[in-house]
Order: sequence, then C-alpha cells, then structure tokens
Amino acid sequence: MTFSRRTRVSDLAIPQEAPNALSRAVAAARARASSAGARLLDLTVSNPTTAGLPYDAEAIAAALAKRASLVYEPQALGLPSARSAVGSEYAKSGIVVDPSRVAITSSTSEAYAVLFKMFCDPGDEVLVPVPSYPLLAWLAAFEGVSLRTYPLEYAGHWHVDVGALARAIGPRTRLVVVVSPNNPTGSFLGRDELEAMLDLGLPIVSDEVFATYPLGAAIPEHRVRSALESRRGLVFALSGLSKLVGLPQMKLGWIACAGDEGRTVEAMERLETVLDAYLSVGAPVQHALPELLRAGTLTSDAIRARTRANLACVRTAARRAPAMSVLDVEGGWYATLRVPETRSDEEWAVGLVEEDGVYVHPGYFFDMTRGAHLVVSLLTPEEDLREGMDRIVARLAREE
Ligand SMILES: Cc1ncc(COP(=O)(O)O)c(C=O)c1O
Repeated sequence: MTFSRRTRVSDLAIPQEAPNALSRAVAAARARASSAGARLLDLTVSNPTTAGLPYDAEAIAAALAKRASLVYEPQALGLPSARSAVGSEYAKSGIVVDPSRVAITSSTSEAYAVLFKMFCDPGDEVLVPVPSYPLLAWLAAFEGVSLRTYPLEYAGHWHVDVGALARAIGPRTRLVVVVSPNNPTGSFLGRDELEAMLDLGLPIVSDEVFATYPLGAAIPEHRVRSALESRRGLVFALSGLSKLVGLPQMKLGWIACAGDEGRTVEAMERLETVLDAYLSVGAPVQHALPELLRAGTLTSDAIRARTRANLACVRTAARRAPAMSVLDVEGGWYATLRVPETRSDEEWAVGLVEEDGVYVHPGYFFDMTRGAHLVVSLLTPEEDLREGMDRIVARLAREE
C-alpha cells in the first residue's frame, strides 16, 4: 500500500509544533503544574469558546433548532437566506456584496481548498505572505499545490514588499493570497498594495477573518477594510463565524467574490461546480446564520474590548523591559514581541515554559526568520495575560 506524497508529513517542509522541544516542554510543564495544583499560563489561546467570553447561549440554541432544517435542500453555493445574511453583514460596514456573489463553505480552510482546486492544477503555485498563518502550507500541500512566498517587511509598520511579490511570480503562479489583518503581524493590506497586486493580473484571495477586529479606534485610512472594495480584476474575500462571532464549532465560512463583472460570473460558476461535489455545510447552521450573526455581537464586542485591553497591557509591560519591544499591530488577535537575539526564539519560548511557567509561540512558527520574536494571543483572559507578561518582563530583567 502506498500513501500519497502530499500527505507524507516528513516531505512537507513545514515548521511543526509537535513533537519538538517546545511541545515536550509544554507537556512536561503541564504535568508538573497539575501535580502541584498549579497551572501553566497559556498565552497562545486561540479557541474563543473556552476563553471565558460571553455567549448569548439561548439565542444560539434557538437559532439552531429550526424545523426548516428537517428538509434537505441541496444548494451548492449555500441556502439563499444564508447568502443574503452574508451580504447584509458586509453592508453593516458599508461594503456592497451581492448575495449572488457569495458561496457558503464549512470553514475558511475549506474555502482555501476550493479556490486552490479551482485555479491550480497539480504543481501550480500560489503566492503567500511570510510571516503568516502556518495552516496555509498544509492546505496547499493537500491540493498538490506549491507555495511561493513574498515578504512582509517591518520598518516601524508592516508593509508588503511589492517588488519582491512581482519577482516571485513564475509561469505557474495562479493566485496571490493576502491575510488582512495578517496573523500574527496584525497588519491590514494597504490601499496602494492592493492596487499594485491587482496590476499583476492574478486573482487575489484575501483572508479577512480578523477584519472586524481593528486594535485602534478604526482601521487606518491608508488600509483597506476589504479587498471586495475592488471593482477590477478578480478578488475573493474569505471570512466566517469562526472569528467574526467566535463560533468555530458551527463550521460555516464563506467566499465573497468581486471585481470585473464577466470574470466574477465565470468564477461563481466554477465555485458552484466544485462545491456541488461536496455540499458540505449543514442545514441547521445555514438556517441559523442571520440569528447567529445578530446574537454574536455580544461575543465580538467582548473580543474587541479584550484584545484592545490586552494590547494596552502588553505595551505597558514592554515599557518596563527595555530589551523588549512590541511590533506595530493594527488588528487581529495577536501581538508580536521582539526579544534579544542572545537566544533563538525557540530557546526563549522553551525557557519561559520551563523556568517561568508561561507558554508563548516562537516567531518561527509563523516563518519569522530574522531576529527573535515571541507571539502572544490577545484573546487570553486578561488576568493570565497580565501575570504572563509580568513573568516575561521579570525573565528579561534577570537575563540582562
Ligand atoms: C488567518 C486565518 N485564516 C483562517 C483561519 C481558520 O478559520 P476557519 O475556522 O474558518 O477555518 C484562521 C484560524 O486561526 C486564521 O488565523
């Protein structure tokens, strides 16, 4: 029996969380802490449903209990009511999305897989930013697609190196992926960067799962709220319940398409062809979507308040540690700390787990190759984050 090369983990050059020194240290620290009645402070929290956030449980349960769900109504692009609900959600931020340009998927991850299938033959390439979200490498590999990267550079603010992006395009490049705001850098795509990307003539996939979480009072003027604001080229915006209202377990995401009219019509036909083979989104969650979006504002407001308060806490802590700085961040759920290069980021992360009982992600998980960086989740309950930052500051003071 021979398995596919696409799924042979050892062949995929992807930084892995397990088993490595950090995951071993985390497992050992958790075991030590639980036998001592203590707890490892986890500053990598990414699951909103176990992070002590408020949910309108009654409204969510009622939304899922509709009798309409007893009927199977296969619709490749999703139920019309769900597609309209997505259009209305964008309208709240002043972005016009026609429901006929929306496809419902079971998650953003599935949306990537569908788009990779739609544009790439095996061996074709997609361009993705670095640093960025590690799952992209897996999603591409499973579709038989090669990743090429383009750099996000940091000079007080993050920006796309548009020249490097253009040079990375080869004869087999089919798509450009952007994550806005990006995970973990928290940078929104710039207006000029979107224009430059559109000039390259390739379809753009814009992962906007964190777009409703600006960390300042608003999204900066020179940044785009959504790539869907484009009326030329071909643009796909991805989002879903996972981050928008903190409900990843509901398994509902979407692809919204914009750009040149003729190309969007053709793209929707292709999307329908691919999605028709799976029909993967359940009826209850599709029928519930309008109510889930309404009820979810309780949770998304709480997430916005928490991530902003936590960022203020991280910045205050960093002022007490001259050797550490917080990189500029505009949105999303993460903050990146620059720490001294006296150790690698993995050594810092392992040391913090073993000696200080604090778990943070090293920058290399996100392909940050220059300098030593640690990434903390701003979704972490406030008390844990404050205590964890205090311990990091104390560790840095001892290392000086
Ligand atoms: C940038 C980004 N895109 C997509 C996802 C996954 O979302 P979904 O649960 O819809 O697959 C994540 C999850 O962490 C993410 O960080």
